[in-house]
Amino acid sequence: MKRIAVYPGSFDPITFGHIDLIERTVGMFDELIIAVARNVQKTGFFTVPERLEMIEELTEGYEDISVDSFDGLLVDYVRDKGACCVVRGLRAFSDFEHEFQMALTNRKLNDEYETIFLMTHESYSFISSSLVKELIEFGGDISAFVPPLVEERLKEKSLSRPRE
Ligand code: PNS
Repeated sequence: MKRIAVYPGSFDPITFGHIDLIERTVGMFDELIIAVARNVQKTGFFTVPERLEMIEELTEGYEDISVDSFDGLLVDYVRDKGACCVVRGLRAFSDFEHEFQMALTNRKLNDEYETIFLMTHESYSFISSSLVKELIEFGGDISAFVPPLVEERLKEKSLSRPRE
């Protein structure tokens, strides 16, 4: 039976931290689905199709990776896909409480899969999509945090956004 894992997130946008996690996870499963959540309680900087396009371009060389988006609950999506695991990254101790709460809530709803946490590489432990978006708004250098493709799209998007 195919071992499928889901890596869910907002990916708004994908960063070197996410990519590090993807690269370390992909060999562990027959298929890794990177799943962009559509209904998180956050206003998106990028639209979901824009996020998907960037992830697809960046993971083009990987046969075992597929890129998708989902509406509704993660537990339902995982069940639909027949996945055995959900993968999440832990950057710092501060991530733990929220991740623990989400994983346990999800387990109450569906205990047929495991949530696996991987520690982000220390070089990326401080990177977050939110900080990257803040930096770009103020013209900060983000080349250490996101691939050139994402940097380019962030700059384009930032320039085209209406200012208050
Ligand atoms: O990248 P993020 O924003 O930390 O990802 C959070 C995400 C998308 C994994 C989480 O919000 C989620 O699973 N959303 C789908 C809706 C859902 O199942 N919510 C209940 C979580 S306990």
